[in-house]
Amino acid sequence: MSQAFKQTPPTTRDLTPKTNVADPVLWENYEYLPIFAKMRAEDPVHYCAESPYGAYWSVTRYEDIMAVDTNHHVYSSDAHLGGIIIDDAIQNDPDNDFKAVNFIAMDQPRHDEQRKSVNGITDPKNLEHFGKLIRQRTSDLLDSLPVGEEFDWVPTVSIELTTQMLATMFDFPFEDRHKLVRWSDVSTAEPGSGVVESQQQRIEELMEMAAYFADLQQSRKDKPDNIDLLTMMTHHPAMANMPPEEFLGNLSLLIVGGNDTTRNSMTGGVFGFNLFPDEFDKMVADPKLIDNAVAEIIRWQTPLAHMRRTALEDAVLGGKQIRKGDKVVMWYVSGNRDTAIFDDPDRIIIDRKNARRHLSFGFGIHRCMGNRIGELQLRILWEEILKRFSRIEAMGDPTLTKSNFVKGYTSLPVKLHRL
Ligand code: HEM
Repeated sequence: MSQAFKQTPPTTRDLTPKTNVADPVLWENYEYLPIFAKMRAEDPVHYCAESPYGAYWSVTRYEDIMAVDTNHHVYSSDAHLGGIIIDDAIQNDPDNDFKAVNFIAMDQPRHDEQRKSVNGITDPKNLEHFGKLIRQRTSDLLDSLPVGEEFDWVPTVSIELTTQMLATMFDFPFEDRHKLVRWSDVSTAEPGSGVVESQQQRIEELMEMAAYFADLQQSRKDKPDNIDLLTMMTHHPAMANMPPEEFLGNLSLLIVGGNDTTRNSMTGGVFGFNLFPDEFDKMVADPKLIDNAVAEIIRWQTPLAHMRRTALEDAVLGGKQIRKGDKVVMWYVSGNRDTAIFDDPDRIIIDRKNARRHLSFGFGIHRCMGNRIGELQLRILWEEILKRFSRIEAMGDPTLTKSNFVKGYTSLPVKLHRL
């Protein structure tokens, strides 16, 4: 196992106004954590004057990130100002007729009205209902896995289980569930990225998604009491009468929101327990620790590395002068390794007292709406793993996603050992 995954090594790079920690190559090669460590120590609110994303501020310490995330009056998420990720190329592309219009990229009051319409998905009775389905589907999948043979955990378990969960939340035809993953990828893909070749192709696929969901919606019109997300969206006044592109944007948000994040937490946990096997043993000895272990895995993994905001007015942050219109990037991945808050943060420590203080779900009005659902899936996954396997052995290092936003894995070879 590569040592860099266990402990952030020091960097010899100097910080300059050209230091662009968002360069996706640094993410693919796992070279960004040393740069964040240096920023936290030497220049915690760092200004990058020049990058393919334009100029931007990197906010790297826990408390400064919290100050931005909880101050939506100054730091906006509005799509028209660039939205919530550092790379706003899709938002700004004049050929893109399908801009992501959804509540994660809105400010008050529209954000609050739209969020309310789907918030019910996490009511305790719904979580109980989903929990049963998720447990059944998780058990079936784990029972179908090969034992003692190498296979890739990412497509076989993480992607498959997350896809099944998305289908469950939307009460989506199970046999078509892989369409959801494709639409999730397409809705955030840049032309030429390998996912879609052109803006035209992207738009065609999103039209297909719109048509599919419009059909599906017909079947929910006379069933207002169903508890799936599509029914809630169909019957809530804030969503029912919105323009079709906005309805589609919100559907995409709910699909994307729960897709890569949970998937990469599933892989992150397996990989992390291979780096710190004593922690796995601790969990086996005391399964009551699973809840806290899930929070700790989500801290350590930080499935979304950042959220971006745009300053609505001049402000001072960490002693730096931010100007109206500046792009401000909250690096959750760095805040989650801030030693001012987390002792020995590179390690997974499943009984860490303050694991739940992690930044991975954000804070403030945009705090993750699906956090309980994500945690539920991960808890059930580990509970069911412990019933079946004594160990999930990583057979090599994972390959990493080339992205400064989705912090994740494209593959992880593993071998299962039976109890
Ligand atoms: C928002 C992370 C699972 C739906 C967010 C935000 C983050 C995040 C960082 C933005 C917070 C901010 O700006 O302050 C995660 C992680 C997950 C996860 C790490 C799993 C481990 C899910 C699931 C769903 C979901 C399963 C689906 C139901 C959403 C939605 C928003 C959101 C709808 C927008 C909330 C708003 O703007 O008010 N999530 N998420 N997430 N997430 Fe999640």
